[in-house]
Amino acid sequence: MRVTLFSILGLFALSSCQVPSSISLEPSPHSGGTGAGKFKKTILAGLEAPTWGELKLESTIPGWDIPVDDTYTRVSTSQKVIAITFDDGPHGVNTPRLLDMLKERKVKATFFVVGDMIKGNPSSAPGLLRRMVAEGHEIGNHTVTHGTLSRMSDDALRSELTRAHDMILKETGVAPRSMRPPGGAIKSDQKKLMLQEFGYPTILWSVDPEDWKRPGPSVVTSRLLKGASPGGILLVHDLHAPTVDAMPSTLDQLLAQGYRFVTISELIALDERKKE
Ligand code: NI
Repeated sequence: MRVTLFSILGLFALSSCQVPSSISLEPSPHSGGTGAGKFKKTILAGLEAPTWGELKLESTIPGWDIPVDDTYTRVSTSQKVIAITFDDGPHGVNTPRLLDMLKERKVKATFFVVGDMIKGNPSSAPGLLRRMVAEGHEIGNHTVTHGTLSRMSDDALRSELTRAHDMILKETGVAPRSMRPPGGAIKSDQKKLMLQEFGYPTILWSVDPEDWKRPGPSVVTSRLLKGASPGGILLVHDLHAPTVDAMPSTLDQLLAQGYRFVTISELIALDERKKE
């Protein structure tokens, strides 16, 4: 299914945006004006501008297209690529330590950040989000409150996603492209809503080492290595120090096996299933 909702009805430069070269489509009725919403998409700042009249998402990430699926646990690819995702941050101590590890190894990751964590760390979170973007990582939407979306009304869901979207966009100038439901709890009609109104595919995972149960760094590493496969999505949490402790060994061994780390958008762009 090729989503056509991004066919442009009208475009205008968003004067209130902090990054001058970001552009948006018309805000939706349920958007606060600068947030996500129907017929609205913000592209990465500083990159080639889209063609007026038709948004060219390819201009932001080569090969990126509107996702064909509303849900991804992995993609099918002949390339030895893998995506590692870090949830529930940013954390004032663990996240910068992790970013150092990633930078040292030139590993690109995706961070599904929580709005309340951004609000709870006003002195460090904005800088951390900007550092993520500056160092080539991707930021995804993991809601504001980390509540259970499957128990929420559509309007509550919209509010969670819009507010988190706006916070990320405000701090970085880059709009999130995907979301992960807290706990993976989401209903099929909610997935469709999020894809149609926000352009978000729902990102789940192929490997869950249950690091939040704190089994110890060596166990986290061994579970990730055992579950790793080309096109896979690894789920871990930069909220937990032992998880960050597990990263040097995990990353080094996967790199030694020939894996190339890509962000979630890049992984989806490499999906080789037939797109219609
Ligand atoms: Ni979470």
